[in-house]
Amino acid sequence: MAVLGRTMSLAFVLVLQALTFTAAVKTRQSAIISHLRDNSDPNIIPLPGNNRPVEVNLDLWIVKVHDVDCFRNEIEVLVWERQIWNNPAFAWDATKEGFKESWVTIPSQFLWVPDITVDNAVSSLEVVSPSIAVVYSYGGVKLFLSIRVRVWCDLKGADSISGANCSLKLGSWTQSNKTVSLSNKENGISRNGVVANPNYDILAASATKESNEYSCCSGESYDHIVFRFVVRKRKQPVAVPETKNGSGK
Ligand SMILES: *[C@@H]1O[C@H](CO)[C@@H](O)[C@H](O)[C@H]1NC(C)=O
Ligand SMILES: *[C@@H]1O[C@H](CO)[C@@H](O)[C@H](O)[C@H]1NC(C)=O
Ligand SMILES: *[C@@H]1O[C@H](CO)[C@@H](O)[C@H](O)[C@H]1NC(C)=O
Repeated sequence: MAVLGRTMSLAFVLVLQALTFTAAVKTRQSAIISHLRDNSDPNIIPLPGNNRPVEVNLDLWIVKVHDVDCFRNEIEVLVWERQIWNNPAFAWDATKEGFKESWVTIPSQFLWVPDITVDNAVSSLEVVSPSIAVVYSYGGVKLFLSIRVRVWCDLKGADSISGANCSLKLGSWTQSNKTVSLSNKENGISRNGVVANPNYDILAASATKESNEYSCCSGESYDHIVFRFVVRKRKQPVAVPETKNGSGK
């Protein structure tokens, strides 16, 4: 009986602790987070209506050249990728009591996220950063990821003066531009924040939008943003600084 009594009081203490914890996590963002969780289904694409696709804006920063393998014709880079889209169902009135934040962060697992992939990757991407999205009161969603990716690239010219042309071709894996359309409005591809690689230099970078049709699915176009860059072997290896400057966010 005494054992049972102790077990019960322990259970009681645990329940009390749980209650205190729940109360403690009710911060000024709780109402907004609940609102987002209630209005979010990760499997439902937030189509804006009128047969319009979700517009996803894609930007890329090349942060580091990891590896240049001229034998296999593969290059591995660390990039920062920013995806921005809108989910009107997320919008809240930031003047309302309990909702007075213009933005909050939420793990991307609770949201629909475009299935953007690197089409010319030769192995699975590694998402190096936490996958946490910023959601704004007007319904905008921003997901900023650090990704390590290895792509096929003709590296014959990497030792020459002009260097070798490489690209990262990003697009939705499953959705045509009737459902997900891509744009690249801001930075294109930026070399800001590049950590110097002792042996390789990135000379130029640009971004273009392409719409491709595939033999499988006539009448359907698939959007891609092709981020191109030129990589060249340095004549003299340089010292690599220990930290990079600027986040680009
Ligand atoms: C790389 O691209 C530039 C610009 O499109 C082109 O002029 C050059 O010939 C290309 N170099 C190689 C090695 O394909
Ligand atoms: C999809 O791409 C095709 C080909 O570029 C274009 O004609 C069409 O207008 C695009 N559709 C949308 C909804 O952007
Ligand atoms: C970092 O960037 C800022 C702004 O571009 C610059 O003023 C500063 O000197 C840089 N710091 C280093 C250590 O390079």
